[in-house]
Amino acid sequence: MQKVKIATWSQVSDRTPVGALVSNVDLVIVRFDDNHSVLYGRCLHRGALMSDGCVTGDNLICGLHGWDYLFHTGVSSYNNAEQLAKFSSWLEGDDLCVDQDEIETWEKAHPQPYDRTPYQGAFQDPHGDAAEPHVSLIRRLADEGLEYLGHHGPVTSMGVSREQLPKWDDIQFVTAQLARKPQLDAVPVATEVVIGPGGRAGGYRHLFG
Ligand code: FES
Repeated sequence: MQKVKIATWSQVSDRTPVGALVSNVDLVIVRFDDNHSVLYGRCLHRGALMSDGCVTGDNLICGLHGWDYLFHTGVSSYNNAEQLAKFSSWLEGDDLCVDQDEIETWEKAHPQPYDRTPYQGAFQDPHGDAAEPHVSLIRRLADEGLEYLGHHGPVTSMGVSREQLPKWDDIQFVTAQLARKPQLDAVPVATEVVIGPGGRAGGYRHLFG
C-alpha cells in the first residue's frame, strides 16, 4: 500500500464536491457529516469533472447534463448499472488519505484519455457524441485557429458533395404579413364577396358565415 494525502479534512466543506488527482486519475471527494466518499472524479456520460457538480439530497449531480450518482456508493440513481468507482479512504489526523496503489491498479484497467497540459485539456470530452458531431472540429479550431487549415477553412479538392450542401428542407420560412398588421380576433370584418361592376347595386352578392 502506498498512502497519499488528498485533502486536509478540516478544509473540506460538507456536501461540497472537491477534486483531487492521483497518478492520472481524477477523484472527487464528498464529505457528508463526519463521513467521506472518494469516487472516480469523471462523469460516465461525457467525462465532466464531478468536482464541478453539486450535491442534492443523497446524490452527486454532474454539472453538465445532470447525471446523478449516490455519493455513498457511486451508483447512479437513474441507472443502477452505472457506477463511479469508489476508492478506500481514511483519516489520519487532519489528513484525508487514499491508497495510490489501489488507484493505479484501477487505472491500468481503465486507462485515462485526459491530457491536462493543453489549454482546457482537463475539460475535454474524449468520447464525443453523435448529437454534437462538430465538437471535435470546433475544439481543434479553438486550439489551432486556421494555422493548419488555411484562411478559407476546411476545403476539399473536388468541391463539396451534393449530400453535404444545404437542402431546401433545411430552410424554414416563417410566414408573416408584412403590408399591414393582421386584425386581432375580436375585430369585426366584412365577409361579403361582391362580383360584378355594379357592386351591391348591380352585381351578385354572397355572404359567408
Ligand atoms: S457529462 Fe455528466 S451528465 Fe453529461
